[in-house]
Amino acid sequence: MTTTLITFPLSVGQLRPWREGDEESLVRHASNRHIWNNVRDFFPYPYTPRDAHSWVRSNKSYQQPNNLAVEIDGQAVGNIGFTIKDDIYRYNAEIGYWLSEGYWGRGIMTESLPIMTNYVFRNFQVNRIFACVLEGNIGSMQVLKSAGYQHEAIHRKAAVKNNQYLDEHIFAILRSEHQELKQSVNGY
Ligand SMILES: CC(C)(COP(=O)(O)OP(=O)(O)OC[C@H]1O[C@@H](n2cnc3c(N)ncnc32)[C@H](O)[C@@H]1OP(=O)(O)O)[C@@H](O)C(=O)NCCC(=O)NCCS
Repeated sequence: MTTTLITFPLSVGQLRPWREGDEESLVRHASNRHIWNNVRDFFPYPYTPRDAHSWVRSNKSYQQPNNLAVEIDGQAVGNIGFTIKDDIYRYNAEIGYWLSEGYWGRGIMTESLPIMTNYVFRNFQVNRIFACVLEGNIGSMQVLKSAGYQHEAIHRKAAVKNNQYLDEHIFAILRSEHQELKQSVNGY
């Protein structure tokens, strides 16, 4: 399989592999404190051209990429991706995503998450996909619920962001639940 085949249409654009040439758009859309406030600290802020080159270099050449760019109007304006855990957690994938603030609230991630969830279960030996959401991130929690993820747990004050302890909400979907959803819900 080549990376060019890993492309999924969205109502307003597409999900597709990262590629050279995305760097400028990545810097413009990712360098945003409102995004950074809701993701891990390893997500750069400010997001520099060097960060963008290193992201594109490490994500552009996989046959089955872990990260897909959200492309709208020909520009990479977001990312949805996953990492597979190891050891006794090796059948778990942690999913994460961000979108340029100018595109929030248009249903783009609600459309993208089921697509990525399907892609992971179809192509990887994964039994559970989970996401960790910081308290107050109602939009992300809603995206997960709409895609059939269950609210499993609250890890009280497990995270620190901006020098504040925050609850972390765990959402997850099992392969069996996903199968059931696919049989019963149109569009999954
Ligand atoms: C979280 C994020 C990806 C959501 O993407 P999006 O495309 O704007 O989400 P959608 O437009 O699909 O909205 C999803 C739902 O949440 C609701 N929503 C979105 N933002 C909201 C907010 N701030 N408060 C309350 N509800 C909100 C929408 O109304 C929609 O509800 P509906 O399903 O009832 O229609 C985006 O806000 C983002 O990139 N945030 C910063 C990074 C981040 O939080 N990443 C996730 C880390 S876990």
